[in-house]
Amino acid sequence: MLIIHHPDELSDYLLRLKIQQKSIGFFPTMGALHAGHISLLHAAQKATDTSVCSIFVNPTQFNNPDDLAKYPRTLEADIALLEKEGCDVLFLPNAEELYANEKPMSLDFGGLATYFEGASRPGHFDGVARVVRLLFDYVNPDHAFFGLKDFQQCMIIRSMIEQLGLNLKLHFEPTLRESDGLAMSSRNIRLESALRNSAPVIYKALTFAQASFGSLPIHEIEAQAKSMIEREPNYKVDYFQLADARTLEPLNDEDKNAEPVALAAVFAGDVRLIDNLLMK
Ligand code: PAF
Repeated sequence: MLIIHHPDELSDYLLRLKIQQKSIGFFPTMGALHAGHISLLHAAQKATDTSVCSIFVNPTQFNNPDDLAKYPRTLEADIALLEKEGCDVLFLPNAEELYANEKPMSLDFGGLATYFEGASRPGHFDGVARVVRLLFDYVNPDHAFFGLKDFQQCMIIRSMIEQLGLNLKLHFEPTLRESDGLAMSSRNIRLESALRNSAPVIYKALTFAQASFGSLPIHEIEAQAKSMIEREPNYKVDYFQLADARTLEPLNDEDKNAEPVALAAVFAGDVRLIDNLLMK
């Protein structure tokens, strides 16, 4: 696996491959890689000639400095895993060089960024869009891969690509789960054992919502799911809400044509976990 640090060096290298008609499959990450990330690599390997991973803990998408400081960093293990899985290129930029030639952009995500992570983490999606756009500029991928665990992020990136008119194919890959249902996440390694043992409650609440959808009123589903989660010691729900997956507007019982999805963000101690499930 080739490891490249400088953004210009990466784009020169990948441009040479493009000239040889090699397609590029890109999956951006913040490291602390797990099987969910590897499923993105495998999807990239299947669809393209060259798999490119980036690892960059992007400061502009953290509204909470403590969360940024505590974000897990496991670079050596990440490199070993990517090598073992046959990734072709790893991009490891630093913030100064990556942001050095940033061009201003003005995007409007409308309702997509209003609720959920948009409301709880002000500025988060602006930071995500800024960094993904920069990474896309340097990588110039033919295909890009994102995990559906970050459901709202997927919708934001799709909207960004449309607004900027970027010519690439976007792939959303299903959430991978531990055997007890907990969605795989880099943050899971921060859960101490009692909190980790309780963590499947989030998926249980989501599957409860799925099973009750259509038979209970939405506010009742949301209230019961919330109290299910908050029965676990040191668990606190930030939001547990149903939305229309296409607009990410909160759902009400009259919306018969919506594509319902339940979105959850939960504090397990000081570790914030997110998850989601389509209701149909
Ligand atoms: O999902 C993530 O890990 C990050 O938000 C991303 C897409 C790599 C941008 O920093």
